Amino acid sequence: MSRVFDEDYAYFYEHRMTGGRTEREVDLIWRLLGLRGGEAVLDVPCGGGRVANRLAQRGCRVVGVDAAAAFIERARADAAAWGLHVEYLVGDMRELAFEERFDCAVNWFTSFGYFDHDGDMRQLRGLHRSLRPGGLLLLDMMSRDALSRAMPPGAEEVVDVLEVGDDLMVDRWRLDVVEGRCVTHRVMVRDGRVRRSRLSFRLPTYPELRHWLMEAGFTPVDVYDEDGAPYSARSGRMIVVARR
Ligand SMILES: C[S@@+](CC[C@H](N)C(=O)[O-])C[C@H]1O[C@@H](n2cnc3c(N)ncnc32)[C@H](O)[C@@H]1O
Repeated sequence: MSRVFDEDYAYFYEHRMTGGRTEREVDLIWRLLGLRGGEAVLDVPCGGGRVANRLAQRGCRVVGVDAAAAFIERARADAAAWGLHVEYLVGDMRELAFEERFDCAVNWFTSFGYFDHDGDMRQLRGLHRSLRPGGLLLLDMMSRDALSRAMPPGAEEVVDVLEVGDDLMVDRWRLDVVEGRCVTHRVMVRDGRVRRSRLSFRLPTYPELRHWLMEAGFTPVDVYDEDGAPYSARSGRMIVVARR
């Protein structure tokens, strides 16, 4: 098994982000955070900078942090090509060293729940510390109820296939409801080369996540769906806005 977030991941996910999806996501981030331009925003993990660069383009002062050096390089290259100033740092999202520096923090695209409880709480506490008092955290993740609905009755697991030309990404995933995690076995075939990886991330219910956020010091904690409408059993994503 090899690393999950690498060049092959970026290659396949670029094909998931077509049709103006990132622009629409940034519109939603803008609206839910009430941004006007000029705010100091932390995007962590920022991946290849698709959100961070667009927030900077709209006038925010952005810092992006990610553990994958290759993604940070890509983010820096795009920022330079677009004539943007964004501070990009390679780092671990459990070890954030900022103190009351940001008006807002963004944790986007199911980028929470990768660790054990202690690691996840370190991530939330670091985000809390990074915000100025009154600052907002926006956290977006898949809704566990949506994933439950995607499991056909009686099925133990679901197979999703993404085809890009002759290349394939095959995800075999299941919900581990005892641990509250989604566990995926992934096979990527690219240029005839086969790579396997395993992903496991927590999928909390809203009351669980709110409890952890409040434990980390956030209050109030509000919740929306992928359109910024009230969160419901039909929502595809769970998007939380939490105030320091
Ligand atoms: C699902 S991607 C989302 C990236 C970005 N938020 C977006 O919307 O495109 C998750 C990211 O988490 C990063 N990551 C994984 N573990 C990390 C860690 N311990 N510290 C910082 N970044 C990490 C990966 O490199 C990857 O870029």
